[in-house]
Amino acid sequence: MSVVHHPRKMLVTGGAGFIGCNFVRQILGEDPELEIINLDALTYAGHRISLEDVENRHSSRHHFLQGDIRDRKLLAEIFERHEIDTVVHFAAESHVDRSIDGPLDFIETNVMGTAQLLEAARSAWKGRSDARFHHVSTDEVFGSLDENGFFTEETPYDPSSPYSASKAASDHLVRAWARTYGMNVTISNCSNNYGPYQFPEKLIPLMIRNAVEGRPLPVYGDGSNVRDWLYVIDHCRAIAEVVRKGVSGRTYNIGGHNEMKNLEVVEILCDTVDALLPGEKPRRELITFVKDRPGHDQRYAIDAGRIDRELGWTPSVDFEKGLRETVRWYLDNEGWCRAVTEENYGGERLGQG
Ligand code: NAD
Ligand code: DAU
Repeated sequence: MSVVHHPRKMLVTGGAGFIGCNFVRQILGEDPELEIINLDALTYAGHRISLEDVENRHSSRHHFLQGDIRDRKLLAEIFERHEIDTVVHFAAESHVDRSIDGPLDFIETNVMGTAQLLEAARSAWKGRSDARFHHVSTDEVFGSLDENGFFTEETPYDPSSPYSASKAASDHLVRAWARTYGMNVTISNCSNNYGPYQFPEKLIPLMIRNAVEGRPLPVYGDGSNVRDWLYVIDHCRAIAEVVRKGVSGRTYNIGGHNEMKNLEVVEILCDTVDALLPGEKPRRELITFVKDRPGHDQRYAIDAGRIDRELGWTPSVDFEKGLRETVRWYLDNEGWCRAVTEENYGGERLGQG
């Protein structure tokens, strides 16, 4: 049944991470009556500095709590004290390469953490029909495509990496809590995001950083793997639409209609950096082919027809514009990059198995 939901007290998990901090910034700006409890464990990927402007601008409506989604007692206190009516669940271990090096953290947070959060919501809401749980997930649950076809909401799950398997498990848990306990849930499965505040271990920010510093640009395999890139702000808009207007129990695929081979992405990125920060040599000369990622999915492509037809959402930022803004943001925010990486990541290759 379609009922418009008006979140008033929202628990956002993982709101100091890449997509979470963009979401919190965007939705607080849009909805002056919304209050957010932002729960984040501040792992290597989550940083308070990503929320500095939000905390200044919206200090009365944004409450940051450092804590773990696996901490059931803490979750119970949060639901009780803040009378949460909406959960938007981003918190996760999110990097495929790290899941190859250390899969168990992914099971702990993505599977057990999601189960704890579902249980806390179930127990606090006790069948309330006006509360809603939105689970943010990935297109990687569907596995890999060859050169044809798209992932739809009906595509069977077939995950390849420990990361995607843990996200698939969490999606199943969310659906099980809806079917068994009648909880109001929605799920979104989105393609690759890029934009400001992304930790520089992922393809685009890592390549920007290396290109600016004149370091090699490591392309896995032959660079023919295809991803569908979406500007993070468009993803956040889509999530807000699903939270407000999505049909309870339903899944929505979100994508950018923007499939590209990795090599193409890196080449355009090099040209964009050259244009904004001319160097002695074209950055394309830094491209280096390296050993492939184990279990590397060949192609992801999303059919985002349902969210367009049912909720009127389509992406608004084209890739070249989004990438230019992103490169500019990283050039203007070198201090952020240094602060978030200084203790824990020097740009080294991860995930060789
Ligand atoms: P991220 O790694 O940048 O952020 C994850 C956040 O979760 C961090 O702030 C981290 O501190 C927090 N966190 C991790 N473990 C926690 C725990 N146990 N308790 C509380 N907080 C914890 O990730 P992201 O790229 O912003 O992704 C957010 C969500 O979106 C994830 O669920 C991811 O699977 C999903 N997603 C990401 C993409 C993408 O392209 N980045 C695409 C589709 C879906
Ligand atoms: O599809 C959605 C997923 O996109 C999200 O669920 C994940 O959280 C997010 O990390 C992302 O996963 P990918 O593995 O696709 O993203 P990553 O940026 O790590 O890699 C993108 C592609 O680029 C992939 O084919 C691997 C390749 N790559 C990556 C890195 C870091 C390289 O060629 N070189 C690199 O150095």
